[in-house]
Amino acid sequence: MPPFTHLILVCCNKRPDGHPRGCCNPDESEALRKAFKQETKKRNLGPLIRATKSGCLEQCQHGPVVAIYPQGIFYGNVTEKDIPRIFDETVLNNRIIDDLLIQEECLNNPQCEHVEQKKPS
Ligand code: FES
Ligand SMILES: [Zn+2]
Repeated sequence: MPPFTHLILVCCNKRPDGHPRGCCNPDESEALRKAFKQETKKRNLGPLIRATKSGCLEQCQHGPVVAIYPQGIFYGNVTEKDIPRIFDETVLNNRIIDDLLIQEECLNNPQCEHVEQKKPS
């Protein structure tokens, strides 16, 4: 069995509706994780690239959040339509997608400006 080349962690954490930290899996369907798995299969990359479910990656205000290793890239507000370009650009060609990247000032910053924006009004 060849070693994994990439691990794609898809946050599937669910918090109650209206929770101030938000969550990445609002309908508990794990739809995003399933779509990543499907794309992996479609591209025949199964043994090398694993898309797996993760608990909270602590970037909730930027959810849905996906982390890609070994690059250690954190993407936020990821939707299913972003998946093909995440494979084409980041996984296969090591290029960062700027509009998905969680900015340095936001990463692991529980006080970033987006926390307030996720709070229910
Ligand atoms: S709930 Fe997904 S990063 Fe926290
Ligand atoms: Zn932020």
